[in-house]
Amino acid sequence: MTDAAHEGHRAGIIPAGHWLTNEGDRDGARIIYTHEQIQQRVREMADEITRYYPAGEELLVLGLLKGSFIFLADLVRAINRPLHVDFIVASSYGSGTTSSGNVRLLYDPMAPIADRHVLLVEDIVDSGSTVNRLAEALGERQPKSLELCALLHKHVAADLTLEPRWVGFDAPREFLVGYGLDHAEDFRHLSFVAGL
Ligand code: IMP
Ligand code: MG
Repeated sequence: MTDAAHEGHRAGIIPAGHWLTNEGDRDGARIIYTHEQIQQRVREMADEITRYYPAGEELLVLGLLKGSFIFLADLVRAINRPLHVDFIVASSYGSGTTSSGNVRLLYDPMAPIADRHVLLVEDIVDSGSTVNRLAEALGERQPKSLELCALLHKHVAADLTLEPRWVGFDAPREFLVGYGLDHAEDFRHLSFVAGL
């Protein structure tokens, strides 16, 4: 972080953590989950997922973009079952840090859903609006099973219609970035999760 940026941060002009990079200066960053912790936990979750589904049954792993892209890439490589990958794009947040609760489906998976084991992969469950909206939309298409795997769960959602069967970490109720999670599109590429 440059001196000017540091002063800007101190003065509240530059958001905390704006200088965060994978290597180098992490002064002032509050790393919540390290790369190593995440990798270990993702392997554990993949083992649990592998055991949950009968051998030989094929999964359709549906990643919710953009936040799940790194998590999904690590997760599917450790799942020992035949699977296909597709994505869903939903949008509820603008550039702010609070959910609008108004979730739009921007891209619908091309893959057929009916009679398949669908595993939805989320980066983080916050208000639950996104999960509820997707569970409704996907449930209507008669999957053989529908489960949710979330890297992070803030446990603030009051009425989740689909509880995640697998959760990486019970996350603190603050705004988190890295490992796919963004703040106004910054920080997705970080290999760790930090608090802003
Ligand atoms: P929900 O609909 O309120 O549960 O929000 C879910 C979506 O909001 C996630 O898929 C994220 O993209 C985003 N989100 C929620 N909390 C955070 C956070 O702490 N950091 C970054 N993105 C978040
Ligand atoms: Mg986001």
